[in-house]
Amino acid sequence: MLIFHPFKVSEIERITKDAVVISFEIPFHLKSSYSFISGQYISLEAEINGVNVRRSYSLCSTPEQPALSVGVKEVPKGVFSSFINQSLRVGDSLNISPPEGRFFYDSKNENHSILAIAAGSGITPVFSILNSFLTNNKFGVFTLIYGNKTPEQTMFYKGLKTLEEKHPKQLKIFWVFSQSNEEGALFGRIDDSVINFALNKQHKLPDHSFLCGPEPMILESKKELINRGVSEKAIHLELFTASSETKEIQNKADKGHFTLTCDDVTHNLKLVPNKTLLDIALNSRIEVPYSCQGGVCSSCIARVKVGKASMLTNQILTDSEVEEGLVLSCQAVAQSESIYLDYDDV
Ligand code: FES
Repeated sequence: MLIFHPFKVSEIERITKDAVVISFEIPFHLKSSYSFISGQYISLEAEINGVNVRRSYSLCSTPEQPALSVGVKEVPKGVFSSFINQSLRVGDSLNISPPEGRFFYDSKNENHSILAIAAGSGITPVFSILNSFLTNNKFGVFTLIYGNKTPEQTMFYKGLKTLEEKHPKQLKIFWVFSQSNEEGALFGRIDDSVINFALNKQHKLPDHSFLCGPEPMILESKKELINRGVSEKAIHLELFTASSETKEIQNKADKGHFTLTCDDVTHNLKLVPNKTLLDIALNSRIEVPYSCQGGVCSSCIARVKVGKASMLTNQILTDSEVEEGLVLSCQAVAQSESIYLDYDDV
């Protein structure tokens, strides 16, 4: 179960017309539970129009900083992002769960060569990773390919420009704009030619690559990096939008037994047609961990111990993890008439 604690908003900084950075004071007694590694995310929870809404956002601050900060871009019709951008005020409280996530970089003074490819708000975890890298590594090199429509719509534009000036030997940014011709920047979208252009300027292939943004950009970038000889194991992905190829829910088993264990308590439920396993658990008012409900955050991972489930979409779990029985329960649909899901054994 995700545990939430109330945190006070200590600062709101508008960084583009439609994006803000929200910072939260960390209460002293929660400092160790809310420590994190650059690249991880937190889940925020708020009651909006009488409905409890949760969303996960990557931290853009670094572990060395005193506050937790997230960058939130307002998306059209986005209930939570609109609330954050338009209604939230300094002094308000939001419920926050401890940082988590498998997209992070923690090596110190490794002299690594890092490549990050980000588009739009996909920069948020990368901004944290980059700042930590420059703080903790005196010799490594960081290359960032960052795509946006225009400089005005670019999150952390000023902050990144400042870092570029301050660390000319360690940081190289390839700015890519699709709606604005800028001096020193590439025009268009991030694609294989942009990636090749950036890689051809390097002395060696990156030791680690971090890709964050919409799924098509991530998948194309990953393919190109592998083509160029980068090991798949050294490519780390974070989706910022759910798959556009989400399949329709089709249960082979739409009735039968669904047993789940969470926090050492076992519940006996029934399978429900056209519902994911997470939906069935939440509709039964069972407090299982979840956040995005869109297959992008990994909060809802559980292990299928008996029976079979398939996922509507999965860009997070590796093939071997899926073979081991792990599923994103927000994407998992029963394919057998008896299924046992364990949230504790992951
Ligand atoms: S709740 Fe985010 S991946 Fe399932």
